[in-house]
Amino acid sequence: MSTWETAGDNILQNICQNISASTRLLCLIGDPVKGSLSPLIHNIWAKEHGLEFVYLAFNVKDAELPDAIKGLSAIGAVGANVTAPHKESVLPYLQHLSSEAELIGAVNTIKFDALSGYNTDVEGFFLSLKEKGLCVKGEQVMLLGAGGASKAVALALSRMDVRKIHVVNRTFEKAERVCRLIKEKFGKDAEALPLSAVRIKSKIKDCALLVNCTTVGMGSSPSSPLPEEVLHKDLFVYDLVYNPPKTPLLQAAERVGAGTMNGLWMLIYQAMESFHIWTGTRPSPSSVQKALRVCTKS
Ligand code: ATR
Repeated sequence: MSTWETAGDNILQNICQNISASTRLLCLIGDPVKGSLSPLIHNIWAKEHGLEFVYLAFNVKDAELPDAIKGLSAIGAVGANVTAPHKESVLPYLQHLSSEAELIGAVNTIKFDALSGYNTDVEGFFLSLKEKGLCVKGEQVMLLGAGGASKAVALALSRMDVRKIHVVNRTFEKAERVCRLIKEKFGKDAEALPLSAVRIKSKIKDCALLVNCTTVGMGSSPSSPLPEEVLHKDLFVYDLVYNPPKTPLLQAAERVGAGTMNGLWMLIYQAMESFHIWTGTRPSPSSVQKALRVCTKS
């Protein structure tokens, strides 16, 4: 077990001592979920606001997703966060979608009472850029990845009035699909690119922001989704991965003199929106910041 997980577990042990028969369930479903900080964040807020909720993380394989949704609904779970790879595949099992979830075709938050799906990644990403004081209006940006996270980021950036969005993905057809969505539904210019250093280099030189929306960089032996030679000092590199806090992509970006940011703020802001949807209570970021600092520095 990493020191990161040990620090998180110690905090969790202190705040989860009041579980009773009336404690309600919140959870995360994804694959993998190990190393997620969502349990820490939501359990801190539940304790702080005196709410009888416990938040757990469940590793759910693709084939088990329908049973997991049915089962959680049947046992009266209040809500779930949904992470990779289920943000898009969960849609058929839900009865209602928020306007953003429907527009993007991806859900990261479920409320089980009416089987409703929401997407709080859009607001989470928007607020995290605001927190950093970054203005991208009129700029060209590049997204790596073409899954649910990428579409949420693309919608947030479109609303922030960027000039053009370049979408790079290992599976090129998925990048093309996201670009069609951006052009037809979000009203912005977009271009799909294959994962080729030469093609990326020719476009990234005109971009002010690069966002890694892939899962590459996560885990105990992380790699970078891009070679260092394509990065430049006028780029701001935002990696949605937060574990490890400094991914190989962010290390490379620092070496070339680019600005950097990991996914911790987006994690906190999307979690605030989810917590409000489930409980009606608006938590503050400050109470979880201290715990996250302990975890990420350990
Ligand atoms: P999410 O819903 O969180 O966005 P996802 O839909 O599973 O998660 O998307 C993950 C993204 O990471 C995809 O763009 C995926 O690329 P493919 O569409 O080609 O599968 C990308 N990804 C995952 N592993 C990758 C790897 N080893 N190299 C490059 N891209 C990778």
